[in-house]
Parts: sequence; structure tokens; C-alpha cells
Amino acid sequence: MSHESTLVTQRHFEYLAARTVGDDQFLKQLRADAQAAGIPAIDIAPEEASFLQILLMATKARDVVEVGTLAGYSAVAMARALPRGGTLRTIELNPRHADFARRRIAASDVAELVTLFEGDARVVLATFATHSADAIFLDADKAGYSRYLEEGLRIVRPGGLVLVDNAFAFGQLFHERPTDREAPAVKAFNEIMAKESRLQSVIVPLGDGLWVGVKR
Ligand code: DHB
Ligand code: MG
Repeated sequence: MSHESTLVTQRHFEYLAARTVGDDQFLKQLRADAQAAGIPAIDIAPEEASFLQILLMATKARDVVEVGTLAGYSAVAMARALPRGGTLRTIELNPRHADFARRRIAASDVAELVTLFEGDARVVLATFATHSADAIFLDADKAGYSRYLEEGLRIVRPGGLVLVDNAFAFGQLFHERPTDREAPAVKAFNEIMAKESRLQSVIVPLGDGLWVGVKR
């Protein structure tokens, strides 16, 4: 057997980003205003948002769950990939982030599709019905990921998608002494995903690394 992988460099990322549909004015403004409001600029990259949209469109997803709304960037982006009558349920713990996101979502073109749940995802996810989603996207506190995964595997229908951000641990995956306190949790979670037999998954190296799994 032989196989070949091209070493993807920063230049490749810039190359593909320049050839990917970027943020429209609404999303550009959302990012800028969130930053001005002191919300950390840790939304997903535009090319990652585009890839999420492609996955949702290709699988004809109708109902999506998101854990970690932050400023609402990914919620608006994903909701735009859903058909009329689709739903996006997004969960945010931080009241300041939830407040910002709620207003932005309300002002967006997908306000009708999105519902923001303010609170702890451990509590909120438990209220969602089994097999009520076509996809779940995890992008929240990394220590909670294994719990969210377990709930996600219940909520997502067979054949649905489990998507998880930050597989590359904020760029610190191979640091011996990572400065980010969540990096060890990401590494531990990656091992769980790699062994999770209920999913067929792969890390897609877009943004900070995106786990894409299909529920068997
Ligand atoms: C962090 C969290 C994220 O979800 C992300 O995409 C980037 C950074 C963080 O907690 O530092
Ligand atoms: Mg993230």
C-alpha cells in the first residue's frame, strides 16, 4: 500500500481561504462589533463556516443543534444552509455573550430559524428529544465535550452529523507545556473521538481543526 499526503502550510490555508466564499457585510459587522464589545474573537474561520454549510446542505440537514453560541456567527452561518422551516437550536452559558448573540440573530436573515437557549448545555441538551437533530456542532468549553458528545449521540438521528471545533487545541496540540488551560481537555477528547465506534469520524484541517463524524 502506498499513500501520499501533501504537507499543508500556512500558504495553502491562505490559498484556499482566498478561494472560499467569505463573510458578507452582516457577518463582518457581527465579528467587528463582537470584538468591540469585548467578546473573544474565537469564532470559526470563514472557510470553516463555508464547509459547515456545505456539509449541512449536502446532507439536507433540517434541524441543527449548536453548543456554544458565542456571538452568534456560526449560528447565523449554519442556519443559512438550512431549508425554509428548518431549525437551529443554539446554547450559550455566558449571559453577556447570549445577550449579544440574541440581538444579532434577531436582526439576521435567519431569525425565524434560530432559537437561543441560555444556560448550561448539560441541562439544556437533556431537554432535547432523542433523534430530533440532523447534526450537532460542539464549540464550547472543552472540559464539557465528552458529556456533550454523549448527549449529541442521543439527539442526532442515525446517519446524522457530529461536528466538533478545535481539534488542534488552539494551535497547541503538540506543545509540551500548553499555555491554554483547555488544551489537555482537547487532547483527551480527541482520543475519545478516535475510539468512538458509534461514529465514523475524521479531523478536517480547516480553521483550528474540525472533527466531522457521521453517526452509524
Ligand atoms: C478557544 C475556544 C474556541 O472554541 C476557539 O475556537 C478558539 C479558542 C479558547 O477557549 O481559547
Ligand atoms: Mg471553537
